[in-house]
Amino acid sequence: MECNNVPFQKIVFVCLNERESGVCCANHDAENIHARLKAAIKQRGWDTLVRVSRAGCMNRCMLGPNVMVFPDNRWYSGVTDEDIATILDDITKGVVVP
Ligand code: FES
Repeated sequence: MECNNVPFQKIVFVCLNERESGVCCANHDAENIHARLKAAIKQRGWDTLVRVSRAGCMNRCMLGPNVMVFPDNRWYSGVTDEDIATILDDITKGVVVP
């Protein structure tokens, strides 16, 4: 085993979980939110700096879609297309571009 530092400055977790009950992020456009965030980071050429990852249930299913950002300690709930720009602005604060 090797142990190294995290190879990204930030990691954005987007819950894509689907539940049979229907109360889940997947039923609230989470795939689209994930895709848009990922595409925006890639468009900036930051995909080696900021990782946008698919996440399983984060136990806030009724508030979905949920997005959390490390190490910023940010949690976004009920995210819609209109929130993408705000989240991106928050994410980009503090990113050091080499
Ligand atoms: S399904 Fe997303 S938090 Fe549970």
